[in-house]
Amino acid sequence: MNLNNALPQHIAIIMDGNGRWARQQGKKRTQGHKEGAKVVREITQWCANSHIPYLTLYAFSTENWKRPKMEISYLMKLLEKYLKEERATYLKNNIRFRVIGDINAFSTSLQNAILELEHLTQNHTNLTQILALNYGSHNEIARTFIKLANSQSQNKLSKLTAQEVAELINANLDTATLPDVDMLIRTGGEKRISNFLLWQASYAELFFTPTLWPNFTTDELDKLMGEFCERQRRFGGL
Ligand code: FPP
Repeated sequence: MNLNNALPQHIAIIMDGNGRWARQQGKKRTQGHKEGAKVVREITQWCANSHIPYLTLYAFSTENWKRPKMEISYLMKLLEKYLKEERATYLKNNIRFRVIGDINAFSTSLQNAILELEHLTQNHTNLTQILALNYGSHNEIARTFIKLANSQSQNKLSKLTAQEVAELINANLDTATLPDVDMLIRTGGEKRISNFLLWQASYAELFFTPTLWPNFTTDELDKLMGEFCERQRRFGGL
């Protein structure tokens, strides 16, 4: 086997297929999300044990507000419950928790649960698990532009080179202190990126698997990581 790459530093996953999994089992869609949360737990622990530094999971997009109210409300409760129940896991495994996305749209209690866990784990040095919540790349980039417009004078911005502006944008995205994505996985069979980390995944290796998220296992992730190590990455060079 020809190994071209070291292990990925940053894995990002679009967790798709919860609804279809539930339908296959004759269950409600919400049961698919509940089962999906168990897989989030397993994959996170496995990444922590495998010395992967960063794992970003797409848990709720800016477009997911179009779903039925009942499903949204279930997802919000599930998230809050997860953050509370998993507290011990983050502490025991030295996992840092972070969120990207605009959390202002969430209930005060969910916002507090997020901020508390971020604060509690801020000095943890093992895996950083990042949940993308009310996240969409267009929204993130637009918020970054607003931030820059408010903090830099127009005169100063107009004198910068495109490269300097790109660095400024990079340093002000929600992901400011995180490395770019090396490996982007989507479960559930669709082959699209769905407004996820468009800037940060510019040179990511893409993996699409038909496995529905509730059926995704650490064995499959291990196999995909093996494929990642065999790929040739050139970053635009030769
Ligand atoms: C996509 O599947 C999944 C989501 C929109 C939500 C992801 C949520 C979880 C995995 C569980 C909760 C997460 C945490 C962090 C506790 P879908 O509903 O679009 O599936 P479908 O395409 O089969 O309908």
